[in-house]
This record gives sequence, structure tokens and C-alpha cells, in this order.
Amino acid sequence: MSHCRYIMIILFMLLFIFPLDNFISANCFIDKQFHVQVIDDLPPDSSQLKVHCASKDNDLGDQFLSSTKKDFTWSFCEDFFNRTLYFCHFWWGTKESTFDVFNDPRNCIHDGPDVEGTTKCVWTVRSDGFYLGYYDNNGNFIDDLTYTWPS
Ligand SMILES: *[C@@H]1O[C@H](CO)[C@@H](O)[C@H](O)[C@H]1NC(C)=O
Repeated sequence: MSHCRYIMIILFMLLFIFPLDNFISANCFIDKQFHVQVIDDLPPDSSQLKVHCASKDNDLGDQFLSSTKKDFTWSFCEDFFNRTLYFCHFWWGTKESTFDVFNDPRNCIHDGPDVEGTTKCVWTVRSDGFYLGYYDNNGNFIDDLTYTWPS
């Protein structure tokens, strides 16, 4: 039996293992795990916020946030080639907006501030717009107005 045959078998097995790690959300096989949190910080007496987030192969469905359910979080493994992309559609009264909430393992989004080592992207929805927040290496939370509601 040649070494070549062993290598072929191992490569063949790896092809099966790699796609699987996307399904093991609690435990990423070799890739880093990320968390995205959406927080409703809109005035309590205003319209209910509806959020629908999805990636190419994971649809999180409609989420309704309010003063009693202020946030939701999901976790996923970045794929080896950094191709994971999640976008969300937000509806608040007559306003709505859609954008990528995660498309970059370094900054959450490509044009986000450079925060090395972050694994949690926090989107806080306020009446003036969407704040992207990170925990820095010291565990401090920093957030900034990233997108405004389209008028
Ligand atoms: C994915 O992103 C990380 C963090 O920015 C980087 O270190 C790594 O080299 C990237 N991998 C690929 C395959 O581009």
C-alpha cells in the first residue's frame, strides 16, 4: 500500500469534516467562533422593531424586539476562507434598512474600526441609527454610530 493512497484517504475524509464544522455551532473545529448580538435601544413608547437576519445557508427568521425582549444573539464559525456573511433587514415604524452585520473576521464588517481579536459584534439599534460595538482586548465595550436610518 503506497503512502499516496493514505494521503488520498485523509484528504477525502477532510472534505467531509470541513463542511460539518458549520453545523457544530458550539465548537468550531479549527475556525474561530463569532457572536453577533442585536440590541433594541429604541424609545420604549415607539413602534416595535422587527429584524430578519440570514446568511447564505442559515436563515434566523423574523425577530421582534421590545422592552421585554431587548436583544438576540447567534453564534457561528467563520469558514476557513473568511467567506461568512450575515446581513439583517430592520423595520421600525415606516423606516427600514438592510446591511451586512458580519462579513469580516477582523472588524465584523469590512469598513469597521480595526479591533484585533474581537469575536463579538454588537449592533445596538437607536432612533438615530445603528451602533456597531466591540469588546476590546481589555474587555471594555466601545461602540460607534455606523449607519443611520435612511430618511
Ligand atoms: C481570515 O482572517 C483572519 C483575520 O483577519 C486572517 O488572519 C486570516 O489570514 C484570513 N484567512 C484567509 C484564508 O484569508
